[in-house]
Amino acid sequence: MHKTRQLRIFEDTDSLSGAAARFILDETERTIAERGNANVILAGGSTPRVCYEILASAGNGDRLRKVNWFIGDERWVATDDPESNERMIRTSLFGKTPNGCGTLYSWNACSKGIHATVKTYGDTVGGILDPDGGRPDLLLLGLGDDGHTASLFPGSLVLHENGELVPLSPDIPGYAAAVYVPQKKTWRLTLTPAILNKSDVVLFLVTGASKRESLGRLLKSGDGSAPASWIRGNKILYFASADVVDEKTFPADSFPAVYDLQTRIRIDS
Ligand code: 6PG
Repeated sequence: MHKTRQLRIFEDTDSLSGAAARFILDETERTIAERGNANVILAGGSTPRVCYEILASAGNGDRLRKVNWFIGDERWVATDDPESNERMIRTSLFGKTPNGCGTLYSWNACSKGIHATVKTYGDTVGGILDPDGGRPDLLLLGLGDDGHTASLFPGSLVLHENGELVPLSPDIPGYAAAVYVPQKKTWRLTLTPAILNKSDVVLFLVTGASKRESLGRLLKSGDGSAPASWIRGNKILYFASADVVDEKTFPADSFPAVYDLQTRIRIDS
């Protein structure tokens, strides 16, 4: 179970993204100083782009050179496809300094069969993040309106090695999986809770009023209904913009009773 959960509320996406970039820099610098490198699992989607662009700017290349970056989930498209998370990451985090910001481990989606792709990435992740001592130091995640995170979507089906499709559950075997998402009629690739939950620190980035209900459910202790609630870590932070955490949906006086959050901080930009 997580030891610390904290909600930080920001006026807008820009101030949230700046704070997230500073948090990632601080966390990776601290870890690199202790161990010589840092392992970060990156979120996909659209929210993190501004944060990654901030990380890539301001001459941070040298500070991030010792970071191993992994992609928490990927769409089953080529890496130059506009829908590709890798494309979003390469153009935002690596755009200005292709080699300066550390090492990105790609799913290489669509370069070979989906089974082989999942096995290769699962082995890569397991080889770096799971030997004695290795682990994800920081996990970045987004949150969907339906409570999905990474590509762990409610109602999705996991492709087993034998070709069977089985309902998604928190205990998917292995570190990587191919998932069919019926509501999107598309295949996704995702790291599984087995590796995601080895992370020391988890940072959710949540913007957009459409996520009020899913964030509310996620913050409510004991509500394990959505995949995002399967995520564990020693410390879980939720950076949310004010359009998500409005007083009507999250009345301040309800927090101590309803949400098992140690702190709820409103940070004005
Ligand atoms: C993806 C993401 C997914 C994302 C959420 C939120 O590949 O889309 O991994 O889990 O984080 O859907 O997406 P937005 O940031 O675009 O709102």
